[in-house]
Amino acid sequence: MRLAERISQNAPGRDRAASLIGGTPWRTREEASDSSHELKIQVHNRLFESLDVEKLESLEPAMVESKVTTAINETLDAEGRLLTDSDRERLVEEIKNELLGLGPLEPLLHDDEITDILVNGPNQVYVEKRGKLHSTDITFHDNQHLMLIIDRIVSRVGRRVDEASPMVDARLPDGSRVNAIIPPLALDGPSLSIRRFGRRRYDIEGLLERESLTPEMVSFLRAMVRARLNIIVSGGTGSGKTTLLNCLSAFVPEDERIVTIEDSAEISLQQPHVVRLESRPANLEGKGEVTQRDLVRNSLRMRPDRIIVGEVRGAEVFDMLQAMSTGHDGSLSTIHANSAREAVGRLEMMMLLSGFSIPQRAMRQQIAAAVNVFVHVARLSDGSRKVMKISEVAGMEGDTIMLQDLFEFQRSGVSPSGKVLGQFRATGIRSAYTERIELGGFKFVDSRPLRSVQR
Ligand SMILES: Nc1ncnc2c1ncn2[C@@H]1O[C@H](COP(=O)(O)OP(=O)(O)OP(=O)(O)O)[C@@H](O)[C@H]1O
Ligand SMILES: [Mg+2]
Repeated sequence: MRLAERISQNAPGRDRAASLIGGTPWRTREEASDSSHELKIQVHNRLFESLDVEKLESLEPAMVESKVTTAINETLDAEGRLLTDSDRERLVEEIKNELLGLGPLEPLLHDDEITDILVNGPNQVYVEKRGKLHSTDITFHDNQHLMLIIDRIVSRVGRRVDEASPMVDARLPDGSRVNAIIPPLALDGPSLSIRRFGRRRYDIEGLLERESLTPEMVSFLRAMVRARLNIIVSGGTGSGKTTLLNCLSAFVPEDERIVTIEDSAEISLQQPHVVRLESRPANLEGKGEVTQRDLVRNSLRMRPDRIIVGEVRGAEVFDMLQAMSTGHDGSLSTIHANSAREAVGRLEMMMLLSGFSIPQRAMRQQIAAAVNVFVHVARLSDGSRKVMKISEVAGMEGDTIMLQDLFEFQRSGVSPSGKVLGQFRATGIRSAYTERIELGGFKFVDSRPLRSVQR
């Protein structure tokens, strides 16, 4: 619902401001006294008498901001209350956030170190900073207040969330990804998860700095991408799959035509020849859905050199594997799984669930023919992300897909400060793709992938 509609529904009279912001303005923990809380309500109520909200909606954001700031200041003056400069500034900021921004979440959005914001109902807000979760003292006034902020986030990008559609995925203009799920599905109040992808994206140098892999592994992966092997990055939630996919995609030569397919666009490629596609959920009438599968099929008619599917989740699996094994080699994707072995199982499961009635063996053959390499990443107990294994598909034995590990991270313990210790090592197994990888620019030593690498 548009802001203006919401207001007219909440008319008449002084309470409309209060109901617009979810009852009454929330109290911050630091808020000095009830009187400043009272003042906030008074300012809100007056504001709606002096501001034409309907007009505001059609203005440029900067203009809105300046109009609202002026109105707040005028209202404060009219109230005739004496405030110190810093109290006034704080009040103006809070009211502005309430009206225009994401309320109590706003300060978090200005902290560049925060990568995730997780809201579990009105009284619990967690953030992730440098790979670690921290609880914050930020609260919402009540469920209704939190719902208002969620509604504001999703309606800005043309989505909605209500009892009829209680789950929503959205992408903010800055690239951040948002998921909201509300009661009755979420039992303890509306829940909001923001992955601030737009903020900070590691490139391969960044991954090296964070010791997520070694320079040798980087050259190996680069050569595999250049050798047009089909690679799937596997890992759990937030393990760094998309980040690594992004880095691997950067190794694709500039003269190739790349089509990216995602449910919510996160991949950002620097190459000049890229077509980005994003799926679309059904509209309010339940129409107009375009799935990743539709996009994969369409992309095949676009003469791509490579297809990059952000995350394979369902029915697109079949078309993607087929594309990989028929001329679009060098394609990349990610999958949610706790090991490369599990990733194979999940691919199979996705094929089954999307209704392909072909024998299991044929399904596995399809997977073995399509995927060359799994790169498994994990988020470790110290918040770091590492490439745990690089494993290649070495064909089938009987009904089983054979995987062999070329590199692995071996944990050796945990330091007193909690840092995970260990080393990356080459297993010494000779890759079945040795020649292709060498053509891709990687030099093998004694036909083994690498010397062991100490870390
Ligand atoms: N190698 C790394 N070292 C440290 N932090 C990382 C690393 N890779 C990714 N991150 C951070 O971890 C978070 C999750 O990254 P990313 O989105 O790539 O994971 P994902 O596995 O794709 O997550 P999802 O399961 O939500 O799709 C981001 O905040 C990202 O900046
Ligand atoms: Mg991801």
